[in-house]
Amino acid sequence: MAQLVRRYLDRILDEHRQVTDGALACYIPELARVDPHGFALSLSSADGFIYECGDAGVEFTIQSISKPFTYALALDQIGQNAVDAKIGVEPSGEAFNEISVDEATKKPKNPMINAGAIAAVSLIPASTPDERFAMIAEFYSACAGRRLELDRDVYSSEKATGSRNRAIAYMLQSFGVLDDDPDDVLDVYFRQCSFNVTSTDLARMAATLARGGVNPLTGRRVTNAAVVKRTLSVMVTCGMYDAAGDWVSAVGMPAKSGVGGGIVAVLPGQLGIGVYSPLLDAKGNSVRGVRLCRSLSEQLGLHFLTVARDSRATLRAVYEPRDGIRVYETHGDLLFSGAEQVARTVERERADFAAVILDVSRVDDIDDTARELLSGISAALRAEGRAGYLVDPAGIVIRNELEYETVRYATVDDAVAAAERDLRA
Ligand code: DON
Repeated sequence: MAQLVRRYLDRILDEHRQVTDGALACYIPELARVDPHGFALSLSSADGFIYECGDAGVEFTIQSISKPFTYALALDQIGQNAVDAKIGVEPSGEAFNEISVDEATKKPKNPMINAGAIAAVSLIPASTPDERFAMIAEFYSACAGRRLELDRDVYSSEKATGSRNRAIAYMLQSFGVLDDDPDDVLDVYFRQCSFNVTSTDLARMAATLARGGVNPLTGRRVTNAAVVKRTLSVMVTCGMYDAAGDWVSAVGMPAKSGVGGGIVAVLPGQLGIGVYSPLLDAKGNSVRGVRLCRSLSEQLGLHFLTVARDSRATLRAVYEPRDGIRVYETHGDLLFSGAEQVARTVERERADFAAVILDVSRVDDIDDTARELLSGISAALRAEGRAGYLVDPAGIVIRNELEYETVRYATVDDAVAAAERDLRA
């Protein structure tokens, strides 16, 4: 069944493969050398299962996607009041590298623009720049579930050409926002932007935020839920810079882009997404990445205002009314992430039974994606010579039995009788 989901995601990726709009980030010379054709999508479920499409193994630098994670680390280490004293949470409406602070407060407007991000670096409590960088590296790696490494060529390239950020850092010092040496703070900032990641790393980092600070791959708690809530809130309003309004309306997930071509997107409680395509629009966001996330949101129903129960609660009960006949009872609102959980559970456990009955009697609502996934379960089982039965008295999944080549049963007993009959045949 994981193949069903993967084929679905591959199809959505392919819808945008021919788009060539945008340009590489040339203001950092090393970034002008990347392959402009790279295109990847990774999706992590709430329990850490990963789907990878396209160039998911291609590494690129994290760039501004680092900003929410350093912001989260600052919140975790010194608390929200101390962070708020130095950095605002208001969208700036300006370019990400604007040399400006809030007129009234003389603080950077938010932690997702360069000024706020540089300030956030300075708030990580450490006695030396290297210790500060080590804390950041450890935090990012814990979120990704593997040791992330620095791209020294990109780091050196940005450090050699980072005059604009140097101006921002010294401006921040002049307003009392930076307490440490601006060049030391900036060096750590340049290093944090130069971590090599893949779309799968981003999906795992996003899933850690989706799980309220617990990495679903390692099970390690990286930070607390309050830190995650504040971080995601600021990502919603500021993560895509002055494209945030369109993003929240059309995609509807807390997200952060980077000039390396990545975008990380989080659906709280459900999943994490990482996409990669290095051709950028004028606002510094990946052109194909934004379009891909828009399609994912529209086709899989991922908008955060499409509210449903936690996807892991989709399975209400699993039991065996007869030896070898297993019933999976679902309930609530079935969206993509819930249906994906059910499909993958059936696939993982299929060796344990001869026949499976999917009971959707208690499902309140279902979207087309979830309907297609659940209907695909019996077809996938049939292809393996196993039997799949659907208890769907209200026809919420199978509106037309011919359309889905699946018989639906009114009760579990009816389905059990059919399964016993077929197994005897
Ligand atoms: O500071 C810079 O300009 C880069 N290291 C990061 C900028 C960036 O990724 C903007 N986001 N799209």
